[in-house]
Amino acid sequence: MSASGQASASLPPKSNNAPLKKIISFYVRFTPSYSKIGFHARSLFWRRLDADFRGQTWLVVGGSEGIGGSAARSAVAAGATVICVGRDPRKIEAFAGSTAHPQRVIGEVADFSLVASVRELAARLQDRGVKVHVLVNNVGIQKRDQILTREGLETSFATNILSHYLFTRELLERGLLAEDATVIETSSGGMYNHPMVVKDLNITGSGYLGVRAYGLSKRAQVMLTEYWRRRFAGSQRRFYVMHPGWVDTAAVGRSMPRFRETLKSVLRKDPQGADTIVYLAAARPPQKADEAIWFDRKERAAHIFPRTRQSTETPESLVAYLDGYGGAPAPLGSRPAADRQGS
Ligand SMILES: NC(=O)c1ccc[n+]([C@@H]2O[C@H](COP(=O)([O-])OP(=O)(O)OC[C@H]3O[C@@H](n4cnc5c(N)ncnc54)[C@H](OP(=O)(O)O)[C@@H]3O)[C@@H](O)[C@H]2O)c1
Repeated sequence: MSASGQASASLPPKSNNAPLKKIISFYVRFTPSYSKIGFHARSLFWRRLDADFRGQTWLVVGGSEGIGGSAARSAVAAGATVICVGRDPRKIEAFAGSTAHPQRVIGEVADFSLVASVRELAARLQDRGVKVHVLVNNVGIQKRDQILTREGLETSFATNILSHYLFTRELLERGLLAEDATVIETSSGGMYNHPMVVKDLNITGSGYLGVRAYGLSKRAQVMLTEYWRRRFAGSQRRFYVMHPGWVDTAAVGRSMPRFRETLKSVLRKDPQGADTIVYLAAARPPQKADEAIWFDRKERAAHIFPRTRQSTETPESLVAYLDGYGGAPAPLGSRPAADRQGS
């Protein structure tokens, strides 16, 4: 027997428990906070939210079910008219019928995985002379396998961040966002695990990992919000990004069936996930840091692990990358809306 053989024989057998330990420490750390346990504990200290959205027009992307549907439902109940965007007109119609005032729900069919569809929607809204007071960029998906859109982009990149940026930009350029509009991005606690690498956002080919593609796009929403906040500093517009915790929605059942099965008894209900969206729109609270994320009605740090702070990417490098996929923008407000009819 070789010397190395003797040495290895005297060592204890190699442990392969590391992945299990990682999973256990993940659940121990996050379950109390992100589940309904955290929601119930924190909500004991909240004041009643008397939201009054009368006279407001909301636009909720992904508003026909889940977290976006619940935010839309609360907005309708508090007096708003809600433009509800989704791909399936029957789902939107059923959703409208389930609200307190179906006549105040306007359905718009668009596919936010497609740049062309996002632009068409913005043009339709401009034709109708819509003014949006609250924009909820809520649509988001997680894919296990790599799927390209028919425009050749990785689907979660196109849906979760590119469409959000382009849609907000289109609404601004077309003069459709009210001067005192509130814009809210629905991100995810999943972004905490991922340092931003902008060039990996639209990753295709062998380097693709669904959970990373999702996490990067969700961190990009945080950076995008910082970009808008700085760009519109001093204006009446407010830009926020929030995360809902773990919510028992159709998307979770589809994309993470084992996670749902394990935790279903403590997952949040849709209104608990949507609560911070409604709170932000109603309270428009001041925000201390430019880069932050709201969760359970409170501003939270955008980083909890030191490694994600080490990224040298900036909101500007993100937006330059996104511009590369959506054509160069016209300077915001450079041309009056009337000049752009039919463009
Ligand atoms: N659920 C959670 O635990 C959780 C946790 C963290 C973050 N989030 C985030 O919360 C947001 C909402 O998630 P959810 O769980 O509520 O999802 P959901 O239950 O699946 O609802 C998704 C909504 O988006 C619409 N939608 C999906 N793909 C679309 C597309 N390509 N274009 C236009 N509309 C589309 C759906 O309608 P159609 O199918 O008719 O298009 C539906 O209205 C996402 O951004 C997600 O990442 C959720």
